[in-house]
Amino acid sequence: MNTTSVEWVGGIEGHLRLIDQTRLPTELVYLECRDIETVFEAIRSLRVRGAPAIGIAAAYGVCLGVRGAEDGPVAPSQEALTQSLEKAIDYLATSRPTAVNLFWALERMRGAGRQWAGQQLSDQQTPQRLVERLLEEARAIHEEDRAMCHAIGRYGAALLADGQGVLTHCNAGGLATAEYGTALAVFFAAQDAGKRLHVYADETRPLLQGARLTAWELKQRGVDVTLICDSMAAQVMREGRVSAVVVGADRIAANGDTANKIGTYGVALLAAAHGIPFYVAAPTSTFDLSLASGEAIPIEQRAAQEITHGFGRQTAPDGVQVYNPAFDVTPVRLIRAIICERGVIEPVTPEMIARTLQDASFGQKNGGQKDRELSR
Ligand code: MRU
Repeated sequence: MNTTSVEWVGGIEGHLRLIDQTRLPTELVYLECRDIETVFEAIRSLRVRGAPAIGIAAAYGVCLGVRGAEDGPVAPSQEALTQSLEKAIDYLATSRPTAVNLFWALERMRGAGRQWAGQQLSDQQTPQRLVERLLEEARAIHEEDRAMCHAIGRYGAALLADGQGVLTHCNAGGLATAEYGTALAVFFAAQDAGKRLHVYADETRPLLQGARLTAWELKQRGVDVTLICDSMAAQVMREGRVSAVVVGADRIAANGDTANKIGTYGVALLAAAHGIPFYVAAPTSTFDLSLASGEAIPIEQRAAQEITHGFGRQTAPDGVQVYNPAFDVTPVRLIRAIICERGVIEPVTPEMIARTLQDASFGQKNGGQKDRELSR
């Protein structure tokens, strides 16, 4: 079974294939995106979702947008092509506001496109098509994310012990990334290292990413998983069923405040109340050092129907007022450590974050490779 969430099919004339995540867990359906508008709609409506996967899909979306301009009846000028690049990037940047990986990937695509334009002016040799260069960059973003997820898994697995109960919220698995995931990568890598875990998955209202996607992915990989309603997390902790929480992230500010799916902050507060370590697993592409704290992270507001008419059935009275923020911010004081592809950032301080992002080997030097299994 092909469970690759995001895939470019073919060469420069190819297209983007996504798993339509809104159809899981009952149907595994692929969405073939041949134009930028289809990619935009897929991101906005969460057919492709999860911070890294959104960034990868958008990078390929830029290729489709620019190819549309290149393939017109009249060969466009170089200036028209670079304009089409800027237009494609600006358009995709309005698809969703919170996950910084989207903007990070789009800025990489902008840089690659501008570099191409500079080279075309100076290069007397073989001119390269812009879309060719962009596809190369999108593939690099995709490949790097794959590698980052596996590294996160390796570092995170060392924090968990055989037989441990763990809890996660939303879906930070292979579906949300190039493959393997971030929070779920930690569980997969622990299992691959021979540690048996028992994972409690919050269903994650209102769109049920935990029930539909995390439970599905963990079952696919043979990880022992129990699904709970979000409101049950406190009781599960009180009963001593979990001794660590691992979640993903959509944007991490310079001080470590972390935006993730709505409900994450509540889980972090519960973990603190029960003395349970709360870990965030995310690649360095999820950090936004331009924001001093989580206060400035934009929180996506989504449609009322997600709450009143979830999955096709009305569950609230007509006309009721609804508030539906899709993300919340967990303050850094509640986060024990951040697991990224460069190691484990602990304690989470602005200095540790800055040094980890500046120096690729800093995390490893500071305990990333130490085996720090928690006692149960
Ligand atoms: O609205 P979603 O489903 O895109 O939200 C996703 C999350 O909050 C994930 O936990 C986060 O993006 C990390 S994915 C590796």
